[in-house]
Amino acid sequence: MDDLIPTVNRLQDVFNTIGQDHIDLPQIVVVGSQSSGKSSVLENLVGRDFLPRGTGIVTRRPLVLQLVNVPRRKLSRRGRADPSSETEPTGAEQEPFPERAQFLHLPDRQFSDFSEVRQEIQRETERLAGPNKGICRTPIHLKITSPNVLNLTLVDLPGLTKLPVGDQPTDIEQQTRDLVMEYITKPNSIILSVSPANVDLVNSESLKLAREVDADGKRTLGVITKIDLMDQGTNALDTLNGRVFPLRLGFVGVINRSQQDTIANKPIQEALKFEKEYFQTHPVYRAIATRCGTAHLAKILNQLLMSHIRDKLPDIKTKINGLISQTEQELMSYGSSSLSGTINTSSLLLRLLTQFANQFNASIEGNGSDMQA
Ligand code: GDP
Ligand code: NA
Ligand code: MG
Repeated sequence: MDDLIPTVNRLQDVFNTIGQDHIDLPQIVVVGSQSSGKSSVLENLVGRDFLPRGTGIVTRRPLVLQLVNVPRRKLSRRGRADPSSETEPTGAEQEPFPERAQFLHLPDRQFSDFSEVRQEIQRETERLAGPNKGICRTPIHLKITSPNVLNLTLVDLPGLTKLPVGDQPTDIEQQTRDLVMEYITKPNSIILSVSPANVDLVNSESLKLAREVDADGKRTLGVITKIDLMDQGTNALDTLNGRVFPLRLGFVGVINRSQQDTIANKPIQEALKFEKEYFQTHPVYRAIATRCGTAHLAKILNQLLMSHIRDKLPDIKTKINGLISQTEQELMSYGSSSLSGTINTSSLLLRLLTQFANQFNASIEGNGSDMQA
């Protein structure tokens, strides 16, 4: 079943390349008010510093982030590649499969330095959303290939906001709301609703919006950030146990890096270690530590995405088959008189779709799904 997600990612690539969006593909959409910790949660899930984050409005365009897991090469000894493998790493520090990032708008460039990825996101944000505080609906597409990630497609969105700041248009609340709604209304989206622990959950805008589009709570997962910033003597136990806000898929508590950590350049691995120890040793959270933290969140998300894709299989398959026959007919109708460019695009689409359908069926069969042909 796990190979379904890379397969769906490939289909997404096909459509991105052709510039069409025929199928509403499953993805995880991160929603929350400004500075609730959305970008921090995403960075922790990826295990890399690459997102602009901080106080104020930092995320100003949707970021569609594809995480693609590649298997780690076997190591015979620490830092040394298996002798049977083809290439030897040159230095002991070198990773056997280095993480790579690639933007859809820069197809010829591979990034391995994640601070450059962050700079590129900033540059690309300013290019379309301007240097001030405005937001722009056009997404940035980024793919990260790594042995350290689970297969997930995630969307980071501008934060929900009430009051315009700086040069923001007066209707910024409506603009961010519309943008968020555009993504979470899609029935194939899993909504990751991020709320800080130090703000009353009743006021969580993201939970309100999620409830509007997902009344049954079938595709909304709650994330509670900033648990470390709660007032002395208070804790999030009731929230995490589902006694404050009913949410079928529940809430996961996390601790991200603080603003001071960011200034001090605290490495992400250190932060994840701190988070784990915090929950394991805390007198209140100790008892539920196994269902707290970033690692648990990643696991739950991966499971959710897979069961979601499984639910959508019949639908996706029907659409793909429809597209294939439609493209076949288009190809036939061109005859010999039409422009070869059009034919090439259509045959490419047909080839990619057929390839995809085969892989798709193989993944389904390989996983014993009870889906009818
Ligand atoms: P976003 O606007 O929702 O994307 O929020 P960011 O991820 O940019 O975080 C906003 C600010 O809150 C940053 O300064 C983060 O360092 C800080 N922050 C986020 N999560 C936590 C957390 O769990 N604990 C602490 N102490 N600070 C956090
Ligand atoms: Na929120
Ligand atoms: Mg952000």
